[in-house]
Amino acid sequence: MELVMITLSVDVGYRRGKYRTGRFNIWLVVELAGQNRGEGYHRPTGNTYAEALRVCDRRPYWRVFRRRRTNKQTESKVMNDKRDVAPDSTAARVALWRALHIEADSLPHVLEDAIGLKLLAPDEGWRSRGDMDPQFTRPFRASIVARARFIEDLVVEQAARGLGQYVILGAGLDSFAQRRPEIASHLKVFEIDQPGPQAWKRQRLIELGFGVPDWLRFVPVDFEAGGSWRDELMTAGFDESKPAIVVSTGVSMYLTKEANAATLREVAALAPGSTLAMTFLLPLELADPEVRPGLEMAEKGARASGTPFLSFFTPPEILALAHETGFREARHVSAPDLTQRYFMDRTDGLRPPNNAEELLVANT
Ligand SMILES: C[S@@+](CC[C@H](N)C(=O)[O-])C[C@H]1O[C@@H](n2cnc3c(N)ncnc32)[C@H](O)[C@@H]1O
Repeated sequence: MELVMITLSVDVGYRRGKYRTGRFNIWLVVELAGQNRGEGYHRPTGNTYAEALRVCDRRPYWRVFRRRRTNKQTESKVMNDKRDVAPDSTAARVALWRALHIEADSLPHVLEDAIGLKLLAPDEGWRSRGDMDPQFTRPFRASIVARARFIEDLVVEQAARGLGQYVILGAGLDSFAQRRPEIASHLKVFEIDQPGPQAWKRQRLIELGFGVPDWLRFVPVDFEAGGSWRDELMTAGFDESKPAIVVSTGVSMYLTKEANAATLREVAALAPGSTLAMTFLLPLELADPEVRPGLEMAEKGARASGTPFLSFFTPPEILALAHETGFREARHVSAPDLTQRYFMDRTDGLRPPNNAEELLVANT
């Protein structure tokens, strides 16, 4: 819900046919998009706030936003809402790298995904951004398209075996629902992400005519806020008695180890036959020397933009965590595994770097 307008309403107490002088009740009436737009709040309602609300209860056509905020709180809420309804910068970057793969890399493309570029609609200058340099970003781009393709193949394979629920944690500008509707529409697809970026994505999908079909559910959650995303998922129609595939790409590094462990625990407790596929970042000093400066820059950039890398795992650590949190089996999918699957026939040398971002696949 977006705050669109603030009306400062000054009300004068009114009783027995007379305006009372010398007593003013000032309330902030915050109008909500689609609910109260254009409606004034100008009639005398009583000389205390409680009395005003009682009057309004009797006259339901006077709709007021009942939670009183101080001026300062309201101002900052409006500012936060405006600021938050925007794409997450990390999600935007990887979506643009997926688009750059189509523009800058030769055929065959590992993944054809320009939907994020369409949603973001950046100005022409995006290709000249430092973090879009076609040469410098090559290995990172390869890693991003490899992880997305791996996940997509896994989902398609599981859907073919009859699995009906697909949960995308930290979905960002994931576009499986838009690119593969022939498969996605036979599933229930749940996209979980921070409320603001998700509201932005929903709005853009509608503006561009993709729409939000009933089989695609948006579930706004902040993983760090301490609540249970599984509760939110169930409210959105997830069936806990049935297995699901849960994926998380490019998210674990932005969460604390505690939040990652909590997420793994929640997925491990899903119905038997469920699968988690999650990427994790290895400690930077283990990465291939040619990508280490890029990763270090990414680490600095992430910190500077307020989304620092918080968690790194070695493959044995992530496998141990998967077992500790209750998964029946777990395997590590390395960069060489991805290279073997998707990059072997290439002549341009494009491939994901070793020991940077790799995958955990675990089953309940
Ligand atoms: C690098 S993007 C990856 C997006 C998408 N998975 C992909 O691979 O294109 C990281 C995503 O994690 C989400 N995210 C980061 N911290 C989060 C949190 N605390 N709660 C919910 N989502 C979060 C961001 O909003 C963003 O969409």
